[in-house]
Amino acid sequence: MTALTELLARRAPGHSLERPFYTDPDIYRADLAAIHYRDWLFALPACQLAKPGAYARLQIGAYNVILVKGADGEIRAFHNSCRHRGSVLCKDAAGQVAKLVCPYHQWTYELDGRLIWARDMGPDFDPAAWSLKPVHSRELCGLIYICLAGEPPDFAPFADLARPYLEVHDLGRAKVAHTSSIVENGNWKLVWENNRECYHCGGTHPALCRSFPLDPEVAGVSADGSISPRLQAHFDRCEAAGAPAQFRLAGFAGQYRFARMPLQAPAVSYTMDGKPAVRRPLGRVGLADAGSLLAFHYPSTWNHFLPDISLTFRVTPIGPQQTEVTTWWLVDKDAVEGVDYDLDRLTEVWLATNDEDRAIVEGNQLGINSPAYAPGPYSPVQEDGVEQFVDWYVRTMQRSHAPAALAAE
Ligand code: FES
Ligand SMILES: [Fe+2]
Repeated sequence: MTALTELLARRAPGHSLERPFYTDPDIYRADLAAIHYRDWLFALPACQLAKPGAYARLQIGAYNVILVKGADGEIRAFHNSCRHRGSVLCKDAAGQVAKLVCPYHQWTYELDGRLIWARDMGPDFDPAAWSLKPVHSRELCGLIYICLAGEPPDFAPFADLARPYLEVHDLGRAKVAHTSSIVENGNWKLVWENNRECYHCGGTHPALCRSFPLDPEVAGVSADGSISPRLQAHFDRCEAAGAPAQFRLAGFAGQYRFARMPLQAPAVSYTMDGKPAVRRPLGRVGLADAGSLLAFHYPSTWNHFLPDISLTFRVTPIGPQQTEVTTWWLVDKDAVEGVDYDLDRLTEVWLATNDEDRAIVEGNQLGINSPAYAPGPYSPVQEDGVEQFVDWYVRTMQRSHAPAALAAE
């Protein structure tokens, strides 16, 4: 790993990373080991698993995980590997079962992971010793996070910061109106870098730009952390209406952030006409023009929580140059399609935006694949978010590749 340590140490601040960070299979594996196998990852909104027995599968690097809703209503995560001879239990990406039955020799597990039936295993066999291996999981205001590490990092600091921002969005009342999953042919860090700036938005996202402001004074917080008076006035108005809004960046090297940012007036939602996407709002944000609560948690999720709907995104690396981006459009569970919302109208802006971002990321990856690529400078006005992400990445990698004493700091 000397090469990686050296590459991290010689990183030029204010510039994009060197080529191997986006191309090298060894660095990709190091990313998985140091980040995705260690940190808390957003898995899915709890409302996706509506009934007991509903499950969804998630592949993270070499790990295959199932999330399943128990008879008691709790969502648990397990390694999708039978305790007999290791077969996957759930072959489909999602489904509904009464019990988890292994397709190989039909060992049968309760929805809480206990083995309840195994044929011809002899008199000394103790099923209690062969429960499914659990994966750490937490539910936070309707969002399910998992962690593959044996000893997960403390989830509480993130949860404590996030809770007041999320509570007003009432995701416990949500249902999934639509989900999309796309594969972007680009390294997962390029997906994030593209997400963390809107320097590209004017030239790329005609639909999004109807509602998303491009003025960095309004759309972002400057690199030194200062907030323009206009933006502060918006935060104050939202908070007075009971919707926490103030910009907060926290966690190791700024791993997560919350800020309720205004949209481009008079837009109040991400629709082509800027009007609400749903007549029956999800949540209790008292201000129609509160904008979008922009929340990210590296390395797995960014979110837009609006007064009428919530949009949550999951970033899952597939390979050194492939990343899956899954989007959920959440609406109030009593909102009726065709009555309270039109699905095309609800989804068109972000379906288009995601696809435009896919093309941008793929173009970025292709250009970086050329030996002629060399790190280029970030815009100090527009790309401080990219630099913030890259700083977090570099520091996180350095922490995990440092001697133990340093890593403990
Ligand atoms: S591998 Fe699952 S029952 Fe045999
Ligand atoms: Fe974009």
